[in-house]
Amino acid sequence: MTTQLTTPIADPASVDAAIENRLSVRAFLRDKPVPRDLLDRLLQLASRAPSGTNTQPWKVYVLEGATRDALCDKVCQAHDSLREHPELETNFRADYDYYPRQWVEPYLGRRRQSGWSLYGLLGIAKGDKDRMHAQHQRNFRLFDAPVGLMFTVDRVMGQGSLLDYGMFLQNLMLAARAHGLHTCPQAAWNDYASIVLPHIGASAEEMLVCGMALGWADPDAPVNTFSAPREPVSAFTHWVPQPPQGVAG
Ligand SMILES: Cc1cc2nc3c(=O)[nH]c(=O)nc-3n(C[C@H](O)[C@H](O)[C@H](O)COP(=O)(O)O)c2cc1C
Repeated sequence: MTTQLTTPIADPASVDAAIENRLSVRAFLRDKPVPRDLLDRLLQLASRAPSGTNTQPWKVYVLEGATRDALCDKVCQAHDSLREHPELETNFRADYDYYPRQWVEPYLGRRRQSGWSLYGLLGIAKGDKDRMHAQHQRNFRLFDAPVGLMFTVDRVMGQGSLLDYGMFLQNLMLAARAHGLHTCPQAAWNDYASIVLPHIGASAEEMLVCGMALGWADPDAPVNTFSAPREPVSAFTHWVPQPPQGVAG
């Protein structure tokens, strides 16, 4: 019998703790490196994610040191120039719609609440476009994380591969937590796929799924005290009623 069937999960509380204590960290310790063998182990754990017919559609690009810094510089420049010249927008398009094209409730309200809570914590007033731009640009400095990860998928793959990818990413984020690290998944990079993909050496057959900052959280940064609320189970779960006893379904 395979040990996967018989191995007890000796400490379920640790699994719960990794899930409950994962959060999107937006300030990292810039100079504390992540050992390569640890990163390798995290990616190995992430790859235990299930995927339809075991297609394993993930492709991961790891950016550290000068390669990381150069990508950050290029995208920060593009982000600034886009602000100056909005007509450049056609050059900066994501490969797929991560967000809805038209926002409706309740998603719009949640999105607004999350944005304003974060800006409130940072003391950024509504309408302070300079500081909002600067805060958004922190994405493209990987929030100072020493490791940037870029994730691609072959364009030929179906929408289901993004589902598989989500499981891979969550595995990675939970494994990181288990080893004391933190992460921030980042769709912000997607608009800059035309810069990111050639920089990382991805082929024309690949599309950018998202990026991720990975490193050691700055314990003193106020931004890291942000805790995004969740709806209660009763708000998103429907217990489908059983038919009355004796009535065929
Ligand atoms: C695929 C994905 C992309 C995201 N992109 C960004 C991003 O670009 N920048 C950012 O600051 N947060 C990003 N987030 C983090 C979300 O804002 C965050 O997950 C949400 O507010 C819930 O907070 P929590 O992760 O701390 O639980 C992203 C999350 C996911 C899953």
